[in-house]
Amino acid sequence: MMEYYQIGLTAIAAFIVAYLFTGSRWHTLCIIGKTLPRDVLGAYRFLKINILLWYWERKGLTVAKLFTKQVEKNPDKIVIIFEDQRWTYGQLDEYSNRLARYIRTQPMSRGDSVAVIMENRPEYVGTWLGLSKAGFVGALVNTNLRKDVLIHSIKAANSKSVIFGAELRDAIDEIKDKLPGVGLYQSSEKPDTPVVEGAVDLNKSMVNISSDAVEVDLSLGCPRDKLIYIYTSGTTGMPKAAVINNLRYMLMSCGVYYMLGLEHTDRVYDPLPLYHTAGGIIGVGPALCVGITVVLRRKFSASKFWADCIEHRCTVAQYIGEICRFLLSLPPSPNDTAHNVRLMYGNGLRPQIWESFVKRFNVEQIGEFYGATEGNSNLVNIDNRPGAVGFVPRFGDALYRVALLRIDDETGEPVRGPDGLCTRCKPDEPGIFVGKINPKKAVHDFRGYADEKESEKKIIRDVFKKGDRFFNSGDILVMDELGYFYFKDRRGDTFRWKGENVATAEVEAVISNIIGLRDSVVYGVEVPGNEGKAGMVAIYDPHQTLCLQELADGLKKSLPAYARPLFVRVLAELPLTGTYKLKKGDLQVQGFDITQIKDPVYFLEKSGNYVRLTEQLHHDLVEEKIRV
Ligand SMILES: *[C@@H]1O[C@H](CO)[C@@H](O)[C@H](O)[C@H]1NC(C)=O
Ligand SMILES: *[C@@H]1O[C@H](CO)[C@@H](O)[C@H](O)[C@H]1NC(C)=O
Ligand SMILES: *[C@@H]1O[C@H](CO)[C@@H](O)[C@H](O)[C@H]1NC(C)=O
Repeated sequence: MMEYYQIGLTAIAAFIVAYLFTGSRWHTLCIIGKTLPRDVLGAYRFLKINILLWYWERKGLTVAKLFTKQVEKNPDKIVIIFEDQRWTYGQLDEYSNRLARYIRTQPMSRGDSVAVIMENRPEYVGTWLGLSKAGFVGALVNTNLRKDVLIHSIKAANSKSVIFGAELRDAIDEIKDKLPGVGLYQSSEKPDTPVVEGAVDLNKSMVNISSDAVEVDLSLGCPRDKLIYIYTSGTTGMPKAAVINNLRYMLMSCGVYYMLGLEHTDRVYDPLPLYHTAGGIIGVGPALCVGITVVLRRKFSASKFWADCIEHRCTVAQYIGEICRFLLSLPPSPNDTAHNVRLMYGNGLRPQIWESFVKRFNVEQIGEFYGATEGNSNLVNIDNRPGAVGFVPRFGDALYRVALLRIDDETGEPVRGPDGLCTRCKPDEPGIFVGKINPKKAVHDFRGYADEKESEKKIIRDVFKKGDRFFNSGDILVMDELGYFYFKDRRGDTFRWKGENVATAEVEAVISNIIGLRDSVVYGVEVPGNEGKAGMVAIYDPHQTLCLQELADGLKKSLPAYARPLFVRVLAELPLTGTYKLKKGDLQVQGFDITQIKDPVYFLEKSGNYVRLTEQLHHDLVEEKIRV
């Protein structure tokens, strides 16, 4: 009730202010009138979050301390449902305490990071939570990685130890010799699982450890201390470890909770990997920080999605764009509408399928949001506007400092005027999305990566004023007249495929290792009926010495399936004019359209071999007769 009363008052105030400042311009008033309810509700919720965070910071609260408060309030409430397990707040607390006590007996210094590589299950959350209680930082490594990229990820966060699930034994066994001095701890689900040679059986070692609360080290238990690392594939090279501090985790967790109006009684279905921000923070965070129940799934399954939601009585579910497409591609079933999910939140539900998705599955509200793990500016769609990733009040954006900058089409760089500053886009003009860095405010801070040099690359300086600093998202968005934002494209050197980010430089590096130092360039191409972009590599091979079998085998060994190029184009000559960047742009536009290009193109079959792309095959792909 309070909410509506406040909305009313704020609305009237905003109206008067707007009127005074805009004079009699009718058009402006129209826009304000149309967007006022949204803006007021948004401003109210946003304010609430800011006050809460300010209060938490003043009180010195961390994620572990907030979680402890939940445990004290509701020790027997279920926090995680997973397969046939029900974990209460109390149990998760005990597990994490035991892990914390045990890890403190190990030869590491407080503040060190520990890589966590495990499939989704309750122990995953208990592990990084326990690490944080003990004063260590969990580095949440993608479970698809193998060999060099896996080694790189462990080293990128400077991890002194690795805690891995027994299901990843082989991956660890392969690389353990290349990690001298790194402690290995295996977490098994079933008793008597064989343990990797040289690794500690975590479960056995923890048996006799007390589950009493651990004493928090004051120097490490502050809101702005590091909590976890989450890896993102940045603009260059290998995965980068992005720093998530306690405050940021709390911001994202209570951000979705309050912005989207969740309730304590809600149950959230989280089928997303816990090493990503979506699954691990936005999915699990509201459970740890605010006290709702989360239903985890080991791996996403389209056919089980609604059945799980029904069985566990979920009221809220998470998605990524790929999930929505998979769900839509299944034959209709009575379960499509037999669930109680009223809200779905996530990222990447495309405008093209938005309406049909909502209609078929009878979901009342979609909470689409936009934001990079390491970014400092997030958007969220709180009023069900189809297709939008969020909004910023049209005439009140001084409060929330994000902007779209006009860019040069060829270089992708922001255009700078004679004064050296950048230009804002007009409504409906696409531009690069940036957020002002303000270290004083949690919502606008940018903590960067474990690697300082990488952090610097994401910062643009002198944008609207000499000396200001903005975080560059690398994404192209467009804003309409009402202040709604829509996602257009991802610029630069990463693309998304199968829900994962792929860094082109990383794939290029692997390919040049396999085939020797031939020129190759990797880019993403659209494949009809799929979210994101599939990888494609153009290889300069004037003497036809390229062995595709060798390439396929090498890729399989070094890269996760989603990062292996689906198409190979063999170039007989390098384009003679233009810069490297332009060349990539041309190749990308031509894609795998063999009706347009003369070079031979090969397609990676499910079997793992490259076959020549024929007109028939091309036709089947474009007509969505082949699933990729
Ligand atoms: C782990 O230890 C507990 C005792 O603390 C035991 O009940 C359980 O069976 C063990 N699990 C595994 C996978 O060894
Ligand atoms: C745990 O404690 C019991 C009883 O004190 C002892 O018999 C057992 O060996 C201990 N287990 C481990 C793994 O230390
Ligand atoms: C529908 O959901 C129920 C409850 O989870 C499940 O038992 C059933 O197998 C599902 N039916 C289909 C066709 O998936």
